[in-house]
Amino acid sequence: MSDNGVLFVLFGATGDLARRELVPWIVDLARRGTLGEPFRLLGVARDPAMDDAGFQKLVAESVTAAGRGGDDLAAWCGKHVRFHTAYEPGHYDDMARLVRSIEQDGGLSGNRAYYLSLPPSAFAQVIDEMGRVGLAKSPGWTRLVIEKPFGRDLDSAQALNATVHRAFDESQIYRIDHFVGKETVQNLLVFRFANPLFESVWNRDRIAHVQITVAEDIGIKTRGAFYEQTGCLRDMVQNHLTQLLTMVAMEVPAAYDADSVRFEKVKVLRSMAPLEEDDVVFGQYAAGVVHGKPVHGYREEGDVAKDSTVETFVALRAHVNTWRWHGVPFYLRTGKRLPRRLTEIVVTFKEPPVRLFETMQCRLVPPNRLVMRLQPDEGFSLLFDVKRPGEPLLLENLPLHFDYAEAFGALPTAYETLLAEVVQGDQTLFVHADEVIGSWKKYTPLLERGLPVHHYSAGSWGPAEADALLARDGHAWYVGK
Ligand SMILES: NC(=O)c1ccc[n+]([C@@H]2O[C@H](COP(=O)([O-])OP(=O)(O)OC[C@H]3O[C@@H](n4cnc5c(N)ncnc54)[C@H](OP(=O)(O)O)[C@@H]3O)[C@@H](O)[C@H]2O)c1
Repeated sequence: MSDNGVLFVLFGATGDLARRELVPWIVDLARRGTLGEPFRLLGVARDPAMDDAGFQKLVAESVTAAGRGGDDLAAWCGKHVRFHTAYEPGHYDDMARLVRSIEQDGGLSGNRAYYLSLPPSAFAQVIDEMGRVGLAKSPGWTRLVIEKPFGRDLDSAQALNATVHRAFDESQIYRIDHFVGKETVQNLLVFRFANPLFESVWNRDRIAHVQITVAEDIGIKTRGAFYEQTGCLRDMVQNHLTQLLTMVAMEVPAAYDADSVRFEKVKVLRSMAPLEEDDVVFGQYAAGVVHGKPVHGYREEGDVAKDSTVETFVALRAHVNTWRWHGVPFYLRTGKRLPRRLTEIVVTFKEPPVRLFETMQCRLVPPNRLVMRLQPDEGFSLLFDVKRPGEPLLLENLPLHFDYAEAFGALPTAYETLLAEVVQGDQTLFVHADEVIGSWKKYTPLLERGLPVHHYSAGSWGPAEADALLARDGHAWYVGK
């Protein structure tokens, strides 16, 4: 909880993300008192037709649509919510005056959270204007939250970091990766570092390989223009999957705080071997069937070129060259129009050195696996072999299971968690500049190389080449139930 409240300035306040994910949680947290008192929300966009009343209505509708309404919502919005139009430099001078007057009238002490939910092309210009009119400094604390994507390659990420650092110190910057805000992802660190049982086997002596799958059953919906410029490597791998990799592979931090945790994640990125062409498979969905319904191929989607070579699927093999992980492959895959929505980390342990029970019936029993399911049906399963009752001697691979919903009920959403952390001033769940740069250094050469794109039928698990990537090492993708 912050002292003397907070002014939350939401840039891009009329956009899709703001309406669906940010406004409902900002308002819900504020009404619960989690963001401190007094509280004010100032929405900003370029739309000259929008005003205080219009934005208050939009906020009330967004909150109600998210199931967080209530009788007093309209009155609450009337008191706490304002709007400002900004599309030219003079409007930022006006905004600086408006911010000060809202703070003065509301008895706020100058704590400000600026959230940039803007098209990436607008980040630099808006940050420059904020710096120019003095919005980067305030009598209280000032924090800047930046949505993904942070750059589209190494050069642009470095340029954006330079822009941000001209106006803000790194200690003020909260780069969002909403995957990291998920309870299940945070629990990865608790699982590893609070349970010595697992940490003692978390290394090359005991682990054969690690798989990270983020599968989506949806296509690109109405975001064809965006996706044509982005592709799957930039949209998912460089940020979300790589964040998961660093959390699986990092060493024990000196403390559970932002500096220590992020320092260890950066070390993992620095230790990642360069990705060679035969470590990576790009795919693009063709027409197929998902959940029993026929669907278009990527090239038939709106705003997509008929001969597009943009990847909607990536599978890759990474190596983390540390003492802990040397020789253990990390297989990452993600794609659109796969058979179902699934985010899962699968740690496969080494086979026993002597196969005592290897008979005709037992040979196919799989190795021990730890399956960490991040969505849906969040939970963990430890798969191990048991004897089936009766004769002959048969083994079966069965799970020891922990289910989040069963144990704790509904989990907070990632944005709910992350918004509260911004106001608390805890950067642990946000991405440091060095992480962004470390990650782009690994992936930019691949983007520059222009890899071949293999087609896969919508509703399949990706192109055959993705299976071959693991088969070469004697492994196969694991798909849980
Ligand atoms: N939508 C998602 O599910 C999602 C998920 C993850 C991350 N993100 C990221 O979140 C950000 C916003 O995405 P979105 O989908 O909400 O985009 P969007 O629907 O296009 O909304 C963009 C918002 O920014 C405003 N805007 C544009 N240029 C501006 C400028 N120069 N100054 C002030 N306001 C400006 C727009 O309103 P005006 O046109 O009136 O200015 C609108 O309110 C992007 O960085 C995106 O990558 C989105």
